Amino acid sequence: MEYKTILFSVKDGIAWIRFNRPKKLNAMNAQVITEIERVIVECESNDEIKAVIMIGNEKAFIAGADIKPLSDADVNSAFRLVELTTRMQERLADLPKPTIAAISGFALGGGLEVALCCDFRLAAENAVLGLPEITLGIIPGGGGTQRLTRLVGLGPAAEMLLAGVTIKAEKALSIGLVTEVVPVDQLEIKAEDLAMRLAVIPAVAMKACKTAMRSGLNCGLKEGLRIEEMAFCMLFGTLDQKEGMKAFLEKRKPKFLGK
Ligand code: HXC
Repeated sequence: MEYKTILFSVKDGIAWIRFNRPKKLNAMNAQVITEIERVIVECESNDEIKAVIMIGNEKAFIAGADIKPLSDADVNSAFRLVELTTRMQERLADLPKPTIAAISGFALGGGLEVALCCDFRLAAENAVLGLPEITLGIIPGGGGTQRLTRLVGLGPAAEMLLAGVTIKAEKALSIGLVTEVVPVDQLEIKAEDLAMRLAVIPAVAMKACKTAMRSGLNCGLKEGLRIEEMAFCMLFGTLDQKEGMKAFLEKRKPKFLGK
């Protein structure tokens, strides 16, 4: 499939989605959002893909929604943008394959919100993360008030949301917003290492675990535990469960089939 605002490649089972609007620090207009959604659908349907890396360039992951078209938006066009964004984000968060946001430079506003939909966030030492929408007279509209708060808790989230404070990589690590901080020139290799480790995990177990983990956030403990119980038992109907346990007992490496 053809994309104009992103570069897409697949190598060794890893999909690389590179945001590519460098003159605008990868700011997201409707075309970018639509293309991200389309590429996620492509990642979902391509069985060769086992893990996904989202990355920008050294200066920016994504510096937010494109402020130009937003500046004269009305209520209706704001709704359209939010709907487009939410659809893309839900596809990303629900993708049954592991996703990594590899962040160098600015991850602001809608850009940080994309990273919040990924399973892992790796930050280069130069990363700057924030939800500065409030300083523009709006609030985050792509899940920031909800996903950031759930991830890091109310205190650190309030500083970023209400004061519009941007934070650097080390601070992001200390509040649990990113999983690791790495030198700028190591970001790709570290993201690839992580993706390779995730890519060999049995695909059905990955899907079940991700679904249980994420669905559990949207319901109470009891319902979450039922989801886990069903997913756990269902995995005993897979060939990979048989192979994984047999290989352990035979003291050899498993050969997973993804079913
Ligand atoms: C449109 C943007 C942009 C953005 C950068 N640019 N961010 N254009 N929307 N979000 C453009 C600049 O206008 C400029 O274009 C070029 O990219 C380089 O940016 P500079 O500002 O010259 O770079 P620098 O001085 O290094 O400052 C970087 C920056 C700053 C701190 C990231 O650009 C900035 O504050 N950007 C806005 C960040 C922001 O508020 N994001 C939240 C957006 S609202 P020209 O043509 O002048 O060279 C949002 C809502 C989501 O995300 C809603 C979802 C539903």
